[in-house]
Amino acid sequence: MTTRTRISTARTTELKRRFDALGQKSAKAICFFNNKGGVGKTTLVANLAAQLSLVDKLRILVVDADPQCNLTQYALTDDEFTEIYSGDPIANTIFNVIHPLSIGKGYSDNLPIRKTKNFGFDIIIGDPRLALKEDLLAQDWRDAKAGGIRGLKTTFVFSDLISKASKDYDFIFFDMGPSLGAINRSILLSADFFLMPMSIDIFSIWAIKNIGEALKVWQNEINNGLRLAEDPSEINESFRRNQKIGFLGYVTQQHKEKSESGNVRVVEAYASIQDKIPSEISRVLRDFFPSREYNPSLGTIKHLASLAPKSQSLHSPMITVTLKGSYTTTRAQAREIFKGISERFIENLDHHIL
Ligand SMILES: Nc1ncnc2c1ncn2[C@@H]1O[C@H](COP(=O)(O)OP(=O)(O)OP(=O)(O)O)[C@@H](O)[C@H]1O
Ligand SMILES: [Mg+2]
Repeated sequence: MTTRTRISTARTTELKRRFDALGQKSAKAICFFNNKGGVGKTTLVANLAAQLSLVDKLRILVVDADPQCNLTQYALTDDEFTEIYSGDPIANTIFNVIHPLSIGKGYSDNLPIRKTKNFGFDIIIGDPRLALKEDLLAQDWRDAKAGGIRGLKTTFVFSDLISKASKDYDFIFFDMGPSLGAINRSILLSADFFLMPMSIDIFSIWAIKNIGEALKVWQNEINNGLRLAEDPSEINESFRRNQKIGFLGYVTQQHKEKSESGNVRVVEAYASIQDKIPSEISRVLRDFFPSREYNPSLGTIKHLASLAPKSQSLHSPMITVTLKGSYTTTRAQAREIFKGISERFIENLDHHIL
Protein backbone atom coordinates (compact mmCIF):
# COMPACT_ATOMS: atom_id res chain seq x y z
CA MET A 1 0.00 0.00 0.00
CA THR A 2 1.47 3.36 -0.97
CA THR A 3 -0.56 5.48 1.43
CA ARG A 4 -0.23 5.90 5.12
CA THR A 5 -1.93 8.11 7.65
CA ARG A 6 0.80 10.39 8.95
CA ILE A 7 -0.86 13.47 10.23
CA SER A 8 -0.10 15.74 13.09
CA THR A 9 -2.33 15.45 16.12
CA ALA A 10 -1.18 18.73 17.66
CA ARG A 11 -4.21 20.61 16.39
CA THR A 12 -6.60 17.74 16.91
CA THR A 13 -7.34 18.63 20.49
CA GLU A 14 -8.08 22.26 19.60
CA LEU A 15 -10.77 21.62 16.97
CA LYS A 16 -12.23 18.71 18.93
CA ARG A 17 -12.27 20.91 22.04
CA ARG A 18 -14.11 23.62 20.13
CA PHE A 19 -16.60 21.10 18.84
CA ASP A 20 -17.11 19.57 22.29
CA ALA A 21 -17.69 23.06 23.69
CA LEU A 22 -20.77 23.33 21.45
CA GLY A 23 -22.29 20.64 23.67
CA GLN A 24 -23.93 18.67 20.88
CA LYS A 25 -25.53 15.50 22.18
CA SER A 26 -26.76 14.17 18.87
CA ALA A 27 -25.33 14.20 15.36
CA LYS A 28 -25.85 17.14 13.06
CA ALA A 29 -26.97 16.06 9.59
CA ILE A 30 -25.40 18.00 6.75
CA CYS A 31 -26.14 17.55 3.09
CA PHE A 32 -23.71 18.59 0.41
CA PHE A 33 -25.86 19.90 -2.34
CA ASN A 34 -25.70 21.70 -5.64
CA ASN A 35 -28.08 20.86 -8.44
CA LYS A 36 -25.28 21.40 -10.95
CA GLY A 37 -23.33 18.24 -11.77
CA GLY A 38 -19.57 17.75 -11.59
CA VAL A 39 -18.81 20.66 -9.23
CA GLY A 40 -16.81 18.46 -6.84
CA LYS A 41 -19.51 17.47 -4.32
CA THR A 42 -18.32 13.88 -3.86
CA THR A 43 -14.66 14.90 -3.64
CA LEU A 44 -15.48 17.47 -0.97
CA VAL A 45 -17.71 15.16 1.09
CA ALA A 46 -15.07 12.42 1.15
CA ASN A 47 -12.09 14.65 1.87
CA LEU A 48 -13.73 16.92 4.45
CA ALA A 49 -15.20 13.90 6.23
CA ALA A 50 -11.72 12.30 6.21
CA GLN A 51 -10.15 15.48 7.61
CA LEU A 52 -12.73 15.68 10.41
CA SER A 53 -12.40 12.04 11.33
CA LEU A 54 -8.69 11.27 10.77
CA VAL A 55 -7.26 14.58 11.97
CA ASP A 56 -9.93 16.08 14.20
CA LYS A 57 -11.13 12.81 15.70
CA LEU A 58 -14.81 13.54 15.20
CA ARG A 59 -17.19 10.68 14.52
CA ILE A 60 -18.54 10.89 10.98
CA LEU A 61 -21.08 8.79 9.09
CA VAL A 62 -21.27 9.42 5.35
CA VAL A 63 -24.37 8.38 3.43
CA ASP A 64 -23.99 7.87 -0.31
CA ALA A 65 -27.42 8.97 -1.49
CA ASP A 66 -26.42 9.34 -5.13
CA PRO A 67 -27.39 6.40 -7.38
CA GLN A 68 -24.11 7.00 -9.26
CA CYS A 69 -22.35 5.60 -6.13
CA ASN A 70 -19.18 7.64 -6.78
CA LEU A 71 -18.54 8.25 -3.09
CA THR A 72 -18.75 4.51 -2.40
CA GLN A 73 -16.40 3.72 -5.25
CA TYR A 74 -13.92 6.28 -3.91
CA ALA A 75 -14.09 5.23 -0.25
CA LEU A 76 -14.09 1.44 -0.60
CA THR A 77 -11.11 -0.51 -1.88
CA ASP A 78 -11.36 -2.10 -5.34
CA ASP A 79 -11.72 -5.55 -3.76
CA GLU A 80 -14.49 -4.46 -1.40
CA PHE A 81 -16.34 -2.70 -4.21
CA THR A 82 -16.14 -5.69 -6.56
CA GLU A 83 -17.20 -8.12 -3.88
CA ILE A 84 -20.22 -6.07 -2.80
CA TYR A 85 -21.47 -5.04 -6.22
CA SER A 86 -21.05 -8.44 -7.85
CA GLY A 87 -23.53 -9.86 -5.33
CA ASP A 88 -27.04 -10.53 -6.60
CA PRO A 89 -28.92 -8.81 -5.07
CA ILE A 90 -26.43 -6.23 -3.81
CA ALA A 91 -26.57 -6.42 -0.01
CA ASN A 92 -26.68 -3.82 2.74
CA THR A 93 -26.82 -0.53 0.93
CA ILE A 94 -28.92 2.65 1.09
CA PHE A 95 -31.53 0.69 -0.88
CA ASN A 96 -32.18 -1.44 2.23
CA VAL A 97 -33.08 1.71 4.15
CA ILE A 98 -35.86 2.68 1.73
CA HIS A 99 -37.07 -0.59 0.28
CA PRO A 100 -39.05 -1.88 3.32
CA LEU A 101 -41.20 1.27 3.19
CA SER A 102 -42.18 0.66 -0.40
CA ILE A 103 -43.49 -2.82 0.44
CA GLY A 104 -45.47 -1.58 3.44
CA LYS A 105 -43.07 -2.81 6.14
CA GLY A 106 -42.28 0.60 7.64
CA TYR A 107 -38.79 1.76 8.52
CA SER A 108 -35.97 -0.78 8.51
CA ASP A 109 -34.78 -1.88 11.95
CA ASN A 110 -31.03 -1.72 11.34
CA LEU A 111 -28.84 0.64 9.39
CA PRO A 112 -26.39 -0.96 6.92
CA ILE A 113 -23.30 0.85 8.27
CA ARG A 114 -19.75 -0.20 7.31
CA LYS A 115 -16.28 1.06 8.12
CA THR A 116 -13.95 2.49 5.48
CA LYS A 117 -10.34 1.33 5.50
CA ASN A 118 -8.53 4.56 4.67
CA PHE A 119 -10.93 7.48 5.23
CA GLY A 120 -11.64 7.16 8.94
CA PHE A 121 -15.39 7.62 8.56
CA ASP A 122 -18.20 5.05 8.49
CA ILE A 123 -20.39 4.75 5.44
CA ILE A 124 -23.81 3.68 4.23
CA ILE A 125 -22.92 2.68 0.71
CA GLY A 126 -24.79 3.74 -2.41
CA ASP A 127 -26.89 1.65 -4.75
CA PRO A 128 -27.84 2.18 -8.40
CA ARG A 129 -31.31 0.84 -7.52
CA LEU A 130 -31.91 3.96 -5.43
CA ALA A 131 -32.90 5.64 -8.71
CA LEU A 132 -35.91 3.31 -8.80
CA LYS A 133 -37.17 4.85 -5.54
CA GLU A 134 -37.38 8.33 -7.08
CA ASP A 135 -40.92 7.51 -8.24
CA LEU A 136 -42.02 6.23 -4.83
CA LEU A 137 -40.82 9.40 -3.13
CA ALA A 138 -42.40 11.58 -5.82
CA GLN A 139 -45.80 9.85 -5.55
CA ASP A 140 -45.82 9.82 -1.76
CA TRP A 141 -44.92 13.52 -1.72
CA ARG A 142 -48.46 14.33 -2.93
CA ASP A 143 -49.86 12.32 -0.03
CA ALA A 144 -47.42 13.94 2.43
CA LYS A 145 -48.49 17.47 1.43
CA ALA A 146 -52.10 16.49 2.13
CA GLY A 147 -51.20 15.16 5.59
CA GLY A 148 -51.27 11.44 4.68
CA ILE A 149 -49.33 9.36 7.19
CA ARG A 150 -47.93 7.04 4.51
CA GLY A 151 -46.64 9.99 2.49
CA LEU A 152 -45.13 11.68 5.53
CA LYS A 153 -43.42 8.48 6.62
CA THR A 154 -41.86 7.96 3.19
CA THR A 155 -40.81 11.60 2.92
CA PHE A 156 -39.10 11.42 6.32
CA VAL A 157 -37.22 8.18 5.64
CA PHE A 158 -33.91 10.04 6.00
CA SER A 159 -35.06 11.62 9.28
CA ASP A 160 -35.53 8.11 10.59
CA LEU A 161 -32.02 7.21 9.41
CA ILE A 162 -30.60 10.32 11.11
CA SER A 163 -32.36 9.68 14.39
CA LYS A 164 -31.22 6.03 14.43
CA ALA A 165 -27.55 6.98 13.78
CA SER A 166 -27.59 10.15 15.82
CA LYS A 167 -26.19 8.98 19.14
CA ASP A 168 -23.16 7.27 17.59
CA TYR A 169 -21.86 10.17 15.47
CA ASP A 170 -20.99 13.86 15.63
CA PHE A 171 -21.92 14.43 11.98
CA ILE A 172 -23.90 12.62 9.31
CA PHE A 173 -22.94 13.78 5.83
CA PHE A 174 -25.04 13.13 2.72
CA ASP A 175 -23.52 13.00 -0.74
CA MET A 176 -26.26 13.66 -3.26
CA GLY A 177 -26.76 13.50 -6.99
CA PRO A 178 -27.09 16.72 -8.97
CA SER A 179 -30.85 17.32 -9.13
CA LEU A 180 -33.81 18.93 -7.43
CA GLY A 181 -35.62 15.57 -7.58
CA ALA A 182 -37.65 13.70 -4.96
CA ILE A 183 -34.77 11.85 -3.25
CA ASN A 184 -32.82 15.06 -2.74
CA ARG A 185 -35.96 16.87 -1.56
CA SER A 186 -36.45 14.25 1.16
CA ILE A 187 -32.84 14.58 2.28
CA LEU A 188 -32.99 18.38 2.33
CA LEU A 189 -36.19 18.27 4.40
CA SER A 190 -34.52 15.99 6.95
CA ALA A 191 -31.08 17.55 7.30
CA ASP A 192 -30.10 20.26 9.79
CA PHE A 193 -27.85 22.11 7.35
CA PHE A 194 -26.84 22.20 3.73
CA LEU A 195 -23.39 23.00 2.43
CA MET A 196 -22.83 23.98 -1.16
CA PRO A 197 -19.81 22.87 -3.19
CA MET A 198 -19.43 25.16 -6.21
CA SER A 199 -17.22 25.30 -9.22
CA ILE A 200 -16.07 28.72 -10.35
CA ASP A 201 -18.07 29.09 -13.53
CA ILE A 202 -21.15 31.01 -14.59
CA PHE A 203 -23.20 27.78 -14.72
CA SER A 204 -22.60 27.14 -11.03
CA ILE A 205 -23.83 30.63 -10.17
CA TRP A 206 -26.89 30.09 -12.36
CA ALA A 207 -27.64 26.75 -10.63
CA ILE A 208 -28.03 28.30 -7.18
CA LYS A 209 -30.88 30.57 -8.32
CA ASN A 210 -33.47 27.84 -7.92
CA ILE A 211 -32.30 26.33 -4.68
CA GLY A 212 -33.50 28.89 -2.14
CA GLU A 213 -36.92 29.15 -3.80
CA ALA A 214 -37.38 25.38 -4.02
CA LEU A 215 -36.41 24.92 -0.37
CA LYS A 216 -38.89 27.52 0.85
CA VAL A 217 -41.76 26.03 -1.16
CA TRP A 218 -40.98 22.49 0.03
CA GLN A 219 -40.68 23.52 3.65
CA ASN A 220 -44.05 25.30 3.54
CA GLU A 221 -45.66 22.32 1.87
CA ILE A 222 -44.31 19.78 4.35
CA ASN A 223 -45.15 21.96 7.35
CA ASN A 224 -48.68 22.20 6.00
CA GLY A 225 -48.75 18.41 5.60
CA LEU A 226 -47.58 17.97 9.20
CA ARG A 227 -50.33 20.33 10.39
CA LEU A 228 -52.96 18.41 8.43
CA ALA A 229 -51.70 14.97 9.53
CA GLU A 230 -54.64 12.73 10.32
CA ASP A 231 -52.94 11.20 13.34
CA PRO A 232 -49.88 13.24 14.37
CA SER A 233 -48.96 10.72 17.06
CA GLU A 234 -47.83 8.41 14.26
CA ILE A 235 -45.15 10.88 13.22
CA ASN A 236 -42.00 10.69 15.28
CA GLU A 237 -41.56 13.95 17.21
CA SER A 238 -37.95 14.22 16.07
CA PHE A 239 -39.13 14.53 12.45
CA ARG A 240 -40.85 17.78 13.23
CA ARG A 241 -37.68 19.44 14.50
CA ASN A 242 -36.42 20.55 11.11
CA GLN A 243 -38.96 22.95 9.98
CA LYS A 244 -36.13 25.13 8.75
CA ILE A 245 -32.82 23.98 7.33
CA GLY A 246 -29.78 26.23 7.82
CA PHE A 247 -27.13 27.14 5.26
CA LEU A 248 -23.71 26.20 6.63
CA GLY A 249 -21.76 27.70 3.78
CA TYR A 250 -20.17 27.18 0.39
CA VAL A 251 -16.81 25.98 -0.89
CA THR A 252 -15.52 27.04 -4.30
CA GLN A 253 -13.38 24.52 -6.13
CA GLN A 254 -10.95 23.80 -8.90
CA HIS A 255 -9.68 27.26 -9.79
CA LYS A 256 -6.16 27.71 -11.16
CA GLU A 257 -3.51 29.79 -9.40
CA LYS A 258 -0.53 31.73 -10.69
CA SER A 259 2.66 32.59 -8.87
CA GLU A 260 4.30 35.97 -9.57
CA SER A 261 7.40 37.12 -7.71
CA GLY A 262 6.54 34.98 -4.71
CA ASN A 263 2.85 36.00 -4.61
CA VAL A 264 0.20 33.44 -5.41
CA ARG A 265 -3.06 34.68 -6.90
CA VAL A 266 -6.16 33.21 -8.48
CA VAL A 267 -5.99 33.34 -12.29
CA GLU A 268 -7.99 36.40 -13.42
CA ALA A 269 -10.64 34.51 -15.43
CA TYR A 270 -11.62 32.59 -12.26
CA ALA A 271 -11.24 35.58 -9.96
CA SER A 272 -13.73 37.65 -11.95
CA ILE A 273 -16.42 34.96 -11.54
CA GLN A 274 -15.44 34.17 -7.94
CA ASP A 275 -16.00 37.83 -7.04
CA LYS A 276 -19.67 37.56 -7.99
CA ILE A 277 -20.37 34.53 -5.78
CA PRO A 278 -20.73 36.16 -2.31
CA SER A 279 -23.40 38.66 -3.41
CA GLU A 280 -25.31 36.02 -5.36
CA ILE A 281 -25.22 33.59 -2.41
CA SER A 282 -26.53 36.27 -0.05
CA ARG A 283 -29.24 37.26 -2.49
CA VAL A 284 -30.68 33.77 -2.89
CA LEU A 285 -29.83 32.12 0.44
CA ARG A 286 -29.85 34.92 3.04
CA ASP A 287 -33.03 33.54 4.62
CA PHE A 288 -31.05 30.43 5.56
CA PHE A 289 -28.23 32.40 7.30
CA PRO A 290 -28.29 32.56 11.13
CA SER A 291 -27.62 36.33 11.11
CA ARG A 292 -27.06 39.20 8.68
CA GLU A 293 -23.31 39.35 9.43
CA TYR A 294 -22.83 35.66 8.71
CA ASN A 295 -19.89 34.74 6.46
CA PRO A 296 -20.95 31.69 4.39
CA SER A 297 -17.60 31.23 2.64
CA LEU A 298 -15.91 28.15 4.08
CA GLY A 299 -12.90 28.33 1.81
CA THR A 300 -11.69 27.54 -1.65
CA ILE A 301 -9.95 24.45 -3.01
CA LYS A 302 -7.67 25.11 -5.92
CA HIS A 303 -7.24 22.58 -8.69
CA LEU A 304 -5.01 20.01 -7.05
CA ALA A 305 -3.80 18.50 -10.32
CA SER A 306 -3.11 14.77 -10.30
CA LEU A 307 -3.55 14.48 -6.51
CA ALA A 308 -7.33 14.15 -7.11
CA PRO A 309 -7.24 11.17 -9.50
CA LYS A 310 -4.33 9.59 -7.58
CA SER A 311 -6.34 9.72 -4.36
CA GLN A 312 -9.21 8.05 -6.25
CA SER A 313 -7.09 5.21 -7.55
CA LEU A 314 -5.51 4.67 -4.11
CA HIS A 315 -8.93 4.94 -2.43
CA SER A 316 -7.42 7.27 0.14
CA PRO A 317 -8.10 10.90 1.00
CA MET A 318 -5.87 13.54 -0.58
CA ILE A 319 -4.28 14.39 2.80
CA THR A 320 -2.89 10.85 3.16
CA VAL A 321 -1.52 10.27 -0.35
CA THR A 322 2.11 9.97 0.65
CA LEU A 323 3.70 9.51 -2.76
CA LYS A 324 6.75 11.66 -3.44
CA GLY A 325 7.61 14.08 -6.28
CA SER A 326 4.93 16.63 -7.16
CA TYR A 327 2.55 14.95 -4.72
CA THR A 328 4.63 16.21 -1.79
CA THR A 329 3.66 19.79 -2.66
CA THR A 330 0.02 19.20 -3.55
CA ARG A 331 -0.53 17.00 -0.49
CA ALA A 332 0.87 19.74 1.77
CA GLN A 333 -1.46 22.21 0.04
CA ALA A 334 -4.42 19.87 0.48
CA ARG A 335 -3.64 19.54 4.20
CA GLU A 336 -3.57 23.33 4.61
CA ILE A 337 -6.79 23.73 2.62
CA PHE A 338 -8.79 21.09 4.51
CA LYS A 339 -7.45 22.31 7.85
CA GLY A 340 -8.79 25.77 7.01
CA ILE A 341 -12.15 24.48 5.79
CA SER A 342 -12.67 22.25 8.83
CA GLU A 343 -12.02 25.22 11.13
CA ARG A 344 -14.46 27.47 9.26
CA PHE A 345 -16.97 24.61 9.23
CA ILE A 346 -16.95 24.40 13.04
CA GLU A 347 -17.04 28.22 13.34
CA ASN A 348 -20.13 28.45 11.16
CA LEU A 349 -21.79 25.61 13.01
CA ASP A 350 -21.14 27.58 16.17
CA HIS A 351 -22.91 30.64 14.66
CA HIS A 352 -25.98 28.58 13.90
CA ILE A 353 -26.12 26.88 17.27
CA LEU A 354 -25.57 29.90 19.48
N1 LIG B 1 -9.72 20.21 -6.11
C1 LIG B 1 -9.71 19.41 -7.19
N2 LIG B 1 -8.62 19.35 -7.99
C2 LIG B 1 -8.62 18.57 -9.09
N3 LIG B 1 -9.65 17.83 -9.51
C3 LIG B 1 -10.76 17.85 -8.75
C4 LIG B 1 -10.86 18.63 -7.56
N4 LIG B 1 -12.11 18.46 -7.02
C5 LIG B 1 -12.74 17.60 -7.83
N5 LIG B 1 -11.95 17.23 -8.88
C6 LIG B 1 -12.32 16.34 -9.98
O1 LIG B 1 -13.50 16.83 -10.60
C7 LIG B 1 -14.31 15.75 -11.04
C8 LIG B 1 -15.71 15.91 -10.53
O2 LIG B 1 -15.70 15.80 -9.12
P1 LIG B 1 -16.86 15.08 -8.31
O3 LIG B 1 -17.16 13.74 -8.87
O4 LIG B 1 -16.47 15.19 -6.87
O5 LIG B 1 -18.08 16.07 -8.63
P2 LIG B 1 -19.62 15.87 -8.25
O6 LIG B 1 -20.18 17.25 -8.05
O7 LIG B 1 -19.76 14.95 -7.12
O8 LIG B 1 -20.23 15.22 -9.57
P3 LIG B 1 -21.73 14.65 -9.74
O9 LIG B 1 -22.61 15.83 -9.94
O10 LIG B 1 -21.64 13.77 -10.95
O11 LIG B 1 -22.06 13.89 -8.50
C9 LIG B 1 -13.63 14.47 -10.55
O12 LIG B 1 -12.93 13.90 -11.63
C10 LIG B 1 -12.65 14.95 -9.48
O13 LIG B 1 -11.49 14.17 -9.40
MG1 LIG C 1 -20.90 13.19 -6.99
